[in-house]
Amino acid sequence: MSNVLRLAIVDPNDSQRESLKSMLLGMDMIWLEAECSRYEFFADVVAQTKPDIGLVAIDGDPQKALDLVTRLGAASPNCAVLVVSSSNDGSLILQALRAGAKEFLTQPVRIEDLLGALGRISERRLGQGDNRPRGCQVIAVAGAIGGVGTTSLAVNLGCILAQDPQNSVALIDLDLCLGDADVFLDTIPDYTLVDVAQNVTRLDFTLLKRSLTKHSCGLYLLPRPVQLEDIGLITPDDLQRVIGLLKATFTHLVLDLSKGYTATDLIALEMANHILLTTQLDLPCLRNAVRLMMSFANMEGLAEKVKIIVNRVGLENGQITLKKAEETIGKEIFWQLPNDYRTMIEARNNGIPLIEQAPKAAITQSLIAMAKALSNDDQVKAPEAAGRKSGLGGLFGLWPSKSGK
Ligand SMILES: Nc1ncnc2c1ncn2[C@@H]1O[C@H](COP(=O)(O)OP(=O)(O)OP(=O)(O)O)[C@@H](O)[C@H]1O
Ligand SMILES: [Mg+2]
Repeated sequence: MSNVLRLAIVDPNDSQRESLKSMLLGMDMIWLEAECSRYEFFADVVAQTKPDIGLVAIDGDPQKALDLVTRLGAASPNCAVLVVSSSNDGSLILQALRAGAKEFLTQPVRIEDLLGALGRISERRLGQGDNRPRGCQVIAVAGAIGGVGTTSLAVNLGCILAQDPQNSVALIDLDLCLGDADVFLDTIPDYTLVDVAQNVTRLDFTLLKRSLTKHSCGLYLLPRPVQLEDIGLITPDDLQRVIGLLKATFTHLVLDLSKGYTATDLIALEMANHILLTTQLDLPCLRNAVRLMMSFANMEGLAEKVKIIVNRVGLENGQITLKKAEETIGKEIFWQLPNDYRTMIEARNNGIPLIEQAPKAAITQSLIAMAKALSNDDQVKAPEAAGRKSGLGGLFGLWPSKSGK
């Protein structure tokens, strides 16, 4: 459980404590070490159980609670204190931080705020030489043209990553109209993205995980809505929350984007650590790759995350050379995937991922090596650092008709 944060909570208000607990209990990254209803006992509880995080809900008696925060800082300096209050009064926040709190959250606690706070605490530990694994790696798979191989790449990459017992991997099909990730995995899911998006404020992590369909290779799938008319029910904000929740539960999230570059696709691009931009070596593809890169350059933090994947290398004579492609796109090619139509189409038609259907095939081996290269890539940036609002404006400004959701 080396990647788990151990947490102790104190809140004299039973119902509030229960609701915080149920939020925390669903998180795989959290181990609830101890709970306490009295401020006066909590310092001893922390001293005995040595949690990584002490969550102090201060509404019961703010002064007493803040004294406790000060005492915790002195007696248990390795325990990061997270203060929760229904007040967002600036002076109270200041007092809490001066008392030694590392984070301050306002009640009712929003799950993404809690995740953000836990992530920052976790990052600080890493900065101090703690060798806990990093958080979730979000991989957005985008394409330069329809049929370029985005879903083949996303599904098979997800399955390969899921082979590693250290990983837990989920794939979200964001091609909301015509996505076919479920076909590649031969599954008939009980729930889709629309169910999860509509209930995102009510879901805890256990329910969320149950809403996904687990493939025998270990990959969890959250498919696109069944009914076309349900697509409008998924707002970019909902999707942001869904991705936030999944990030806390899985080590890897693979997002199969549509070619519409809609508002939901943009959320995925922004929240990703890596954007795999899939292209082929023909003119229409490369032209679109250039256009996409130009738009990404207008959005803070996006262009740097892009990795160019050239698919179906060797497809036909007369393809544009890799060197020329690199020059045209203005970015080095991260990976080349060989052309192997028969293997690919067989795997898809049988609904069996390449790793099971054709583990020795060159295309499978290339994907395995690519998954490794991605995991080893230490250029992973915190996507939250990217300015979201300004970014959306950039792309929307360029293609207003495509993104108007
Ligand atoms: N490396 C490859 N070699 C040969 N064929 C491939 C390769 N990658 C994908 N294909 C084939 O290309 C076709 C399109 O693939 P896929 O559905 O993954 O593309 P897509 O970009 O997701 O399409 P869409 O735009 O419809 O979402 C499929 O028939 C697939 O088998
Ligand atoms: Mg597709």
